[in-house]
Amino acid sequence: MKHIVSISDLGRDDLKKLVEQSAKAKKMLPIGTNDLSGKVIASVFLEPSTRTRLSFEAAVARSGGQCITVSGGQFSSISKGETLEDTIKVISQYADAVVLRQSENDGAVRAAGVSACPVINAGAGSAEHPTQAVLDLFTIAERFDVFSAGVKIAFVGDLKYGRTVLSLAQVLQTIGGAQVALVAPDELAMPKKYTTGAEQTHHQLTPEVLAWADVVYMTRVQKERFNSSEAYNAVKDSCILTHELAQNMRPDAMILHPLPRVNEVETNIDTMPQAHYFTQAANGVPVRMALINWALS
Ligand code: CP
Repeated sequence: MKHIVSISDLGRDDLKKLVEQSAKAKKMLPIGTNDLSGKVIASVFLEPSTRTRLSFEAAVARSGGQCITVSGGQFSSISKGETLEDTIKVISQYADAVVLRQSENDGAVRAAGVSACPVINAGAGSAEHPTQAVLDLFTIAERFDVFSAGVKIAFVGDLKYGRTVLSLAQVLQTIGGAQVALVAPDELAMPKKYTTGAEQTHHQLTPEVLAWADVVYMTRVQKERFNSSEAYNAVKDSCILTHELAQNMRPDAMILHPLPRVNEVETNIDTMPQAHYFTQAANGVPVRMALINWALS
């Protein structure tokens, strides 16, 4: 079985192939495909989601398959005390693949250990969001030749709990050639196990970093991962991309954000040519079409 529980499950060649297949799926979007005809995909979201759940479900629908869905832990028997393992053992007998979001860092690995079909990790605690990392890579690759020339990327904001950043940082290490700047206060610094030691580090978003970067990857401070509101309030406004600051970016540079945003990207940036975060969210559908096919192949 081909689970996608960790971004480390995908090597450089896999990532390249997935980007190519996502591009093909994007071209097919208007008419759809029959790739998942007769297949049932279980969409099991035990934590809130807008983009990941609905883009997976749209990907299944546009590929001719069908979804069964759990949206919210309160609507599954986990709320009665059933374990994640028992839940997945049962659901995986109803479906050809399970797409799973839940709050424990090791939850996707544990689910894959008992599942009767492939498990696709749609976000695990603060540790991993591999399918978001592939869609981020695809969005970057639409503009920059990331596989041959590398890319200069600034990761900004919550680099400690932001699982999308941690997964994308690993993707770029797997591909090689990227130059990385980490912009975060000490409290939100990227854990050492995700860094190479070659990154620039900054505590604030500066005009110089913005002028340097091909890609500015903004993140929300992950309020739900903090132990106290005091700790969250102390850092919540530490890295904000204002319209004024964004004027320092090159015209061909990209602002990405996995969304949802709170206040870290001013809304009047949305009409700037560098704002790519809504295109990034739209790319979730073709990229997840490619990922489901990859898991089922
Ligand atoms: N980017 C992302 O994971 O968004 P959702 O939480 O809305 O799925």
